[in-house]
Amino acid sequence: MSISDRILLAANRVFPRPTLPGDVAPDEYADWEYATSDLVIEMWREAGGCEPRTALDLGCGLGGKTRRLLETAPGLRITALDIEAKHLLQAEAYHCGRGIRGIAKIRGDASRLPFAAGAFHRIVTADTLEHFRDAKQSLREMRRCVSDDGRVILIFNP
Ligand SMILES: C[S@@+](CC[C@H](N)C(=O)[O-])C[C@H]1O[C@@H](n2cnc3c(N)ncnc32)[C@H](O)[C@@H]1O
Repeated sequence: MSISDRILLAANRVFPRPTLPGDVAPDEYADWEYATSDLVIEMWREAGGCEPRTALDLGCGLGGKTRRLLETAPGLRITALDIEAKHLLQAEAYHCGRGIRGIAKIRGDASRLPFAAGAFHRIVTADTLEHFRDAKQSLREMRRCVSDDGRVILIFNP
């Protein structure tokens, strides 16, 4: 086991566990994602860099945080990507049910993003890195796909 593995496991014992919803309906889960977006929005506001017109919600899950992003920055062109087709369908249903249109949903893998270099002014990825099968390569892909004056907003639990 590497030293970084040991540090992460130790951190896991020290930090409080996140409170996750139990067995709930998809829309309820998406509402929980939405309700737990404060840190994302705080980081979005403090990010600096260029004025964002395009953003990627990487590992969007059921779309709760994507909804919050669009409310924070109306007019933003958002793409939501997830590896799970089911999550994208649930996110689409969640958005449609709230009259939210125009968020492109794309199935893909964070380690091979299907976008041109510099395609986004912001890449937001919340509670995802620990799920990605190749975290290092996913970070390289984020760097490739964010514009030079853009920002990556990365949040993950230990
Ligand atoms: C814990 S959820 C986080 C959802 C959302 N970002 C949030 O914070 O509310 C993690 C998401 O990452 C997605 N995911 C896992 N591996 C992925 C990969 N390699 N590429 C893209 N998405 C992935 C999962 O399908 C899941 O929807």
